[in-house]
Amino acid sequence: MSKLFEPFSVRDLTIANRVWVSPMCQYSSVDGLPNDWHLMHLGQFAAGGAGLVMTEASAVVPEGRISPQDAGIWNDEQARAWRRVTEFVHAQDSVAGMQLAHAGRKGSTYRPWDGKRTSVPPEEGGWQAVGPDDRAFGGYDAPRPLTEEEAGRLPGQFAAAARRAVDAGFDLVELHFAHGYLVHEFYSPLSNDRTDRYGGDFEGRTRLAVEITGAVRAELGDGVPLFARLSSSDWDDDGWTIEDTVRLAGLLKEHGVDLIDASSGGNTPHPQIPLGPGYQVPFAERVRAEAGIPTGAVGMITEPGQAEKIISSGSADAVFLARALLREPHWPLRAASELGAEIRWVDQYARARA
Ligand SMILES: Cc1cc2nc3c(=O)[nH]c(=O)nc-3n(C[C@H](O)[C@H](O)[C@H](O)COP(=O)(O)O)c2cc1C
Repeated sequence: MSKLFEPFSVRDLTIANRVWVSPMCQYSSVDGLPNDWHLMHLGQFAAGGAGLVMTEASAVVPEGRISPQDAGIWNDEQARAWRRVTEFVHAQDSVAGMQLAHAGRKGSTYRPWDGKRTSVPPEEGGWQAVGPDDRAFGGYDAPRPLTEEEAGRLPGQFAAAARRAVDAGFDLVELHFAHGYLVHEFYSPLSNDRTDRYGGDFEGRTRLAVEITGAVRAELGDGVPLFARLSSSDWDDDGWTIEDTVRLAGLLKEHGVDLIDASSGGNTPHPQIPLGPGYQVPFAERVRAEAGIPTGAVGMITEPGQAEKIISSGSADAVFLARALLREPHWPLRAASELGAEIRWVDQYARARA
């Protein structure tokens, strides 16, 4: 019997299977609004059988976008526009999650296909990016360090965004604490030389992550699941490690996180990463075993048998797929067929069932 296609229950929510859409920026919004593209993009995965459809990194404040074309959830108009997406996802018996994000010093950048690895100037819709300190990432402009008071406002800004996400119909929220964006910048020693309460030792550097988690959990109440995506390693001798991640995962669990989405990297431009199939799965496995919290595995998971083994061996509770789903949005339907598992086909496509 397939474990990959068994339901996963967390708080008040049951997710039909463990094949989940990994968050993927589309750089296709105007004023942070989702539009027809987002409905098509996310909707195809719901029709394709994914148990959980997660949005792209959605900015909690305008300056928290990566590119000027990023989606957002910093106002009520955006929340209303997202409702179209959540209603469609629910109509396919899938579950919708929103990834909440602040890009920090990696904000105000061009879309990947613009091919420019510099900051976007104000006349092209860019802004002054902010960070823990004034060290720049790669060829981007130096960030303006946040004041202690500004950093202290972030938990409230994430909580307000979480409220809007729930009002928009999302069933769960994921905090984007990975990939060299703001919260990762705070917890990584490579990008935080602050001397106030948000810097210094492990406790100081992780304080922002913990405070955001507490504020969001308080806003969500007890029923709504909360995930956090962490960069499990900076892949750098002087950087954040998997041991740090296990410790932070334990803290986040105490403050209301239900599942760690174990990614890595993003805080240095050219890390040496031993890329290969499932290369980040060992992170999910260690966090699950040592912090005692459910995990999602992500990264170069492409084959049904591979995904099945990750779940059945107890390395993780779910898999997040990104590029495999872009290549094949109905991957879960094929995977279920190959694994001999039950999955719901949408009525419109049922005649194609193998
Ligand atoms: C087009 C694209 C956009 C992405 N945007 C995000 C994002 O918004 N948030 C995030 O946490 N990861 C983002 N990622 C990373 C993916 O979620 C995933 O972690 C990564 O691609 C590795 O998984 P894969 O091998 O299945 O593609 C993005 C990846 C791609 C390909």
